[in-house]
Amino acid sequence: PEAITVAELANRMAERVADVVKALMQSGIMATQNQSIDADTAELVIEEFGHRVTRVSDADVEDVIASVEDKEEDLLPRPPVITIMGHVDHGKTSLLDAIRQTSVTSGEAGGITQHIGAYQVTTKDGQVLSFLDTPGHAAFTSMRSRGAQVTDIVVLVVAADDAVMPQTVEAISHAKAANVPMIVAINKIDKPSANPTKVRTDLLQHEVIVEEMSGEVQDVEVSAQTGQGLDQLLEAIALQAEILELKANPNRAAEGAVIEAQLDVGRGPVATVLVQKGTLKQGDIFVVGEQYGKVRALINDKGERVKEAGPSVPVEVLGLNGTPEAGDVLNVTSTEAQAREIAEYRAHAAKEKRAAAGAATTLDQLLQKA
Ligand code: GTP
Ligand code: MG
Repeated sequence: PEAITVAELANRMAERVADVVKALMQSGIMATQNQSIDADTAELVIEEFGHRVTRVSDADVEDVIASVEDKEEDLLPRPPVITIMGHVDHGKTSLLDAIRQTSVTSGEAGGITQHIGAYQVTTKDGQVLSFLDTPGHAAFTSMRSRGAQVTDIVVLVVAADDAVMPQTVEAISHAKAANVPMIVAINKIDKPSANPTKVRTDLLQHEVIVEEMSGEVQDVEVSAQTGQGLDQLLEAIALQAEILELKANPNRAAEGAVIEAQLDVGRGPVATVLVQKGTLKQGDIFVVGEQYGKVRALINDKGERVKEAGPSVPVEVLGLNGTPEAGDVLNVTSTEAQAREIAEYRAHAAKEKRAAAGAATTLDQLLQKA
């Protein structure tokens, strides 16, 4: 879209609609909350509110909105979000399970039943890490195409007995395109047929030069089965996270990304959301993609109900009016009318886009036949 409503712009900046209307008025633009303004005007307003704008493309307002940033002084350190990626059966889930077992405090051990594909662990050093177990490459790609980032670090799992495979290559290109640092976990090192050197040389062909090969990408030999190397892997992650100096503003209306969502028979639509900015609270009204709702309950990765979730925390969100898609962005709004309006605006825009695409195809077909 080349335009955005005043209400949505206000929502994305976490500013009051009335204040945005006033700012526009002071610039000589009369617009009510439901009226649309173009990308250039939006950018001016955003800057006026002290937010920084990095524009990805000229025309697309979504790009402008997606890049509204918090003020530096409002930012506080947040845990890193690590995505485990790699080829089928190379041990992604096993590795994550092993990390959780070595990291969770004894009281929690054995109590891991929930599987939402996103977990927080606290290391022995007390560092909190958020892990995503390959949130379907779809979510990753979809987030990236919108200019948003779900992950801070990619752990690329490569089985030492199998080396680099098609999905390994895919994961490398995902990480590179998203400009996310990578750590290579050479897994299944316990196997007699393990050949970590082959993994390292294979990776060279894809321009991944690990430290062992005098490159800069950290590589760690691990075994999800025996637990070998897990501490070193966590250290590598901690080191990388430290370099990134990750921060977010916890004191604002929440924004997050849908990792996965489904229609649950008993609970209705449920979305696993990774909170990225602000704090999501029970009772919050939100819009997520083309859906909206009010947070009825928040459930953490241990299956416990929680009252709120801050930056980098994955939670299940209940209280949606429909099922969103992986990669959809969740924004807390001030009123339900606003949430509904934005959701409907998006649904309408998406429908028009589909119709336009459909019309174009028909026209193409007609021209081809003529
Ligand atoms: P998908 O989710 O299907 O892509 O697989 P995955 O990458 O999550 O692999 P998963 O953790 O399911 O492991 C695949 C198989 O490898 C399982 O049978 C594991 O028991 C085995 N496995 C995983 N890690 C190790 C390891 O370090 N050593 C050995 N010997 N086997 C392992
Ligand atoms: Mg798995």
